[in-house]
Amino acid sequence: MKVDRRIINLVITGFSGTGKSLVAKEVARRLNWDFLDTDDEIVEQVGKPIAEVFREDGEGRFRELEQETIRKACQRRQVVIAIGGGAIVDPQNYELLARNGLIVCLEAKPETIYQRLFSEAACSAETEVRPLLTVDNPLERIKRLKASRQPYYAKADWTIHTDGLSISEVAEDVIRAWRLLGRAHAHLNPLPLACWSQSPAGVIRRAGTASRSRERKSGSQLKADDDVACLVETAAQSYPVFVGYGLLDKLGEKMKKAALSGTATIISDENVFSLYGNKVEQVLKEAGFGVNSVVVPPGEETKNVGSAIRIYDFLVEHRTERDDVIVALGGGMVGDLAGFVAATFLRGMPWVQVPTSLVAMVDGSIGGKVGVNHAEGKNLIGAFYQPNLVLSDCETLTTLPQRELTSGWAEVIKYGLILDKEFFEFLENNVSKLTKVEPKLLTRAIARSTFVKARVVSQDEREREGKRTILNYGHTIAHGLEAATEYKRFLHGEAVAIGMMGAARLSQRLGVLPADAVERQQALLQKFGLPTSLRAEAAGRRRGRKRSNLKLSLAGVTRAMELDKKVKRKIIRWVLLQDIGKAIIRSDVPQEDVLAVLRELAKP
Ligand SMILES: NC(=O)c1ccc[n+]([C@@H]2O[C@H](COP(=O)([O-])OP(=O)(O)OC[C@H]3O[C@@H](n4cnc5c(N)ncnc54)[C@H](O)[C@@H]3O)[C@@H](O)[C@H]2O)c1
Ligand SMILES: [Zn+2]
Repeated sequence: MKVDRRIINLVITGFSGTGKSLVAKEVARRLNWDFLDTDDEIVEQVGKPIAEVFREDGEGRFRELEQETIRKACQRRQVVIAIGGGAIVDPQNYELLARNGLIVCLEAKPETIYQRLFSEAACSAETEVRPLLTVDNPLERIKRLKASRQPYYAKADWTIHTDGLSISEVAEDVIRAWRLLGRAHAHLNPLPLACWSQSPAGVIRRAGTASRSRERKSGSQLKADDDVACLVETAAQSYPVFVGYGLLDKLGEKMKKAALSGTATIISDENVFSLYGNKVEQVLKEAGFGVNSVVVPPGEETKNVGSAIRIYDFLVEHRTERDDVIVALGGGMVGDLAGFVAATFLRGMPWVQVPTSLVAMVDGSIGGKVGVNHAEGKNLIGAFYQPNLVLSDCETLTTLPQRELTSGWAEVIKYGLILDKEFFEFLENNVSKLTKVEPKLLTRAIARSTFVKARVVSQDEREREGKRTILNYGHTIAHGLEAATEYKRFLHGEAVAIGMMGAARLSQRLGVLPADAVERQQALLQKFGLPTSLRAEAAGRRRGRKRSNLKLSLAGVTRAMELDKKVKRKIIRWVLLQDIGKAIIRSDVPQEDVLAVLRELAKP
C-alpha cells in the first residue's frame, strides 16, 4: 500500500505556551518514535540560548537556522517534531512540513497562554516568551501576535484546544488525530478527508479506526466493521454509526455487539412500520431480544408531549425496565419523539436510532438532540441524549416519497457547501446516480454526510460553544419562511435550499463569495430538484405537487426572523460562505442587504 504522508512524521505547532514541546515528547514516548524540538536543536548547534541568537545575530539568522533544522528533521521518519511558534509562517517551512508529516496545531486562549507563560517564564527557552512578557501589556501583545499568526496555524491538519487539558490529555488527542487522519486516508477512498479542526471533547473515526479505549470496552468487536461510517465520541456517550445498504438484517447482531439486551420496544409511525415493522421485529427476535412495538400516526403533529405520554403508558404496561432498549424506527419525527421518551423514561434508558428518511439519516440521528413540539413552538421541550448506536439502511430510502427524498438532499448539499468541497464536487459529479438512489453512491453520500455532521457536533455536543452554528447555513431564512407559512407550505429542506440561496447571495453582496460559487450552488440544488427561489418553489407547486397554498409575505418572513432573534436575545449570526466548502459566521450583516436578498428571492 502506498505510504501516506500523514503517517511519516508528526509536527506539533502552535503559539508559545500551548505546550508543544512537552506534548511532542509525550507523544513520541507513547508511539515509541523519536522526538525533536527545533529550538533545542538550534541551541545545541550554536551553543547559546535562542534569546542570545536573537540579540547577537538577529532574527534573520535565527530563521535561517530554523529553516535548516526543519529541512534536516523532514529527512527523518517517525519523529515527532515540535517547531517554534513562528516557524510555520514561512511558506517554505510549511510546504516541507506538510509534505513530510501530519501537522497538529495546539491552540489555547490568549488568557491561558498568558498564565502559562508567566508560570513558565523563569525556565522557558522559547524565543518569544521573554519579549512577550516584558512589554507594557503582555496579554494584548499575545493577542495581537497570535491573531497575526492564526491564518498560518489554520493551515494545520488538525487543531486541538488545550485550555484546561493536561499534557497527557493533549498527547492522547494528538495520537487520536494521527490515527484518524492517517488511517482514514487509506480507508475513505475515493473521497479523502478534508482537514479539520477538532476539540478534545470528541473525536470521530472512520471505519476500522476504533480507539483503544473503545476496543477495551467492547472487546474490539467494533474494530473492523466495514459499515461503520464513524464513531461519535462525546463526553456523554460514544457510539458507532453504521451506514450501509440492506443493513436492517444486521440490526439485532449490531445491537448485541453494543452490549444491548432485554426487551426492545420499537417506536415507529404507521407508514414506516407497515413497510419495515415486521422485518425489524423478526431480526430482533432472531437476535434474542424480546420485542414490543408502539406505532404512532405519521406527521409532525404527532411529535408532542401527548404522544410521549401514550408511549410511557405503553412502557409501564409492558413492564419495561431500565436496561431494556428503545428502537426508533422512522424519520426524524419518530427519532425525536422516541429519543425524548428514551431520555426521560426511568431517567433514561438505552436507545438505538434506525433512521429511514434522508433527513433523519444525515441530520436527525446525529447529535443527540431529542424532543417534542409545544403548541407555542417547535422542539421547545427536549434534551441532549445520545443513542447507543445508529444504523442507517440506505435501502429504506427506496420507499421514501419523492418530495421527502428531494428535501433531504438540501442538508446533504449543505455539508459540502459549509465544510467539504471535495464532497460538493462528488455530489456535482454524481447527481444522476444519486437521485436514482444508486446503492453504492447513495451509501457513500450518506456516510460522508453523517461523518461531517458527527464531527461538528462532537466539537460542541451541547451547542454551547457556537461551533454547531455553522450547521445553520441557509436556516435563518428557512426558519423565517417556515414560520411565516405556519410550517405548512415548505418541507424543511425546500426552505433550507431557498435559505441557502439567500445566504449565498448575501455573501456575494458583502463581497466575500464570488459569483461563480453562487451559480455552482444554485446549479447543484436545481439538479437535485430543489427550489432556489420562491418563484421556483411556487412553480413546483403549480406543477401539481401537493402543497398548501399559504401566501407568503416578506414582512411575515422578516417578522419571523426577528422573532427568532428576540428569543435568543442576540443579533442574528449569519452563516455565510467564503468559498464552496468554507463557511464563515458574521454578526454584522446590514438589514438592507438582507431585505434586498429576500426581495431577489421573491422576484416574480
Ligand atoms: N434531532 C435533530 O437534530 C433533528 C434534525 C433534523 C430534523 N429533525 C426533526 O425531524 C423531523 C423531520 O424529519 P423527516 O423529514 O424525516 O420527517 P418525518 O419523520 O415526518 O418523515 C417524513 C415522512 O416520510 C415517511 N417516511 C419516513 N421514512 C420512510 C420510508 N423509508 N419509506 C416511506 N415513508 C417513510 C414518514 O412516515 C413521514 O410521513 C422534524 O420533526 C424535525 O424537527 C430533528
Ligand atoms: Zn435543517
